[in-house]
Amino acid sequence: MPLQTPEITKREVISAGGTLSLIDGLIHDAGHAVSEASKEYGWYNVSTLKEPYRIEGKKTMGYEIFEQYGFHLPNVILYPTGGGVGLIGIYKAFLELKTLGWIANDATLPRLVAVQSETCAPIVKAYEQRKSHADVWENAETIAFGINVPKAIGDFLVLEAIYETNGCALAVSDEELLAEQKQVAEREGNWICPEGGATFAAAKKLRQSGWIQEDEHVLCLNTGMGIKYPDTVTYHDEDYLKHSLTIKHD
Ligand SMILES: Cc1ncc(COP(=O)(O)O)c(C=O)c1O
Repeated sequence: MPLQTPEITKREVISAGGTLSLIDGLIHDAGHAVSEASKEYGWYNVSTLKEPYRIEGKKTMGYEIFEQYGFHLPNVILYPTGGGVGLIGIYKAFLELKTLGWIANDATLPRLVAVQSETCAPIVKAYEQRKSHADVWENAETIAFGINVPKAIGDFLVLEAIYETNGCALAVSDEELLAEQKQVAEREGNWICPEGGATFAAAKKLRQSGWIQEDEHVLCLNTGMGIKYPDTVTYHDEDYLKHSLTIKHD
């Protein structure tokens, strides 16, 4: 995994008795290293879209959305997009719902929105230029580590899912996604991950621009726990240190 991977994720590997190898680069550099090593050692490469099953696993999000909406679908789904397998999988699930006859063949599917960081937004750039493939994003860096993917191997599939559902791709800044992460914690008591915060920030922007209408059902997908990124919240003990605490009762 990349050197900049969150500390807790590295510790999880050690805890599970795995072998931790750190690459001084980003996720696609780690993917390249694994590809080379698999050739050398005869490993089976389970990197994104190099094996057939991860998309099938992520696809279940689409079925769960359908089930949890009472066998209906929302109008808009926002997903924090890195490699894009989640979005590709959700779209695949919806096409299967049609094939199964669980929804009408001509049913309007939810508009799928790929949310990225302003400092790593290859899919957004390709969408804005109506391209079918994305270019490599140079100097990618964002606090939302899971979407720090400068080149997605399945970029054309992500873009197809967006175009076919009349969706869009949108970038938000790290400041915006952190503000949403904080607001969700304050209002919902749920410490979501920065990637999840990005979808809330994007929903707000799309509502303000009118792309999302007032009466539409909108789903923001949170893909992880904030507790894995404790450094997104900073504080200094000195600011909070009290020698005594008096609680006044009326
Ligand atoms: C927390 C989190 N959110 C989103 C993503 C992006 O997922 P996808 O590859 O399906 O776009 C990742 C990828 O690792 C992630 O760790």
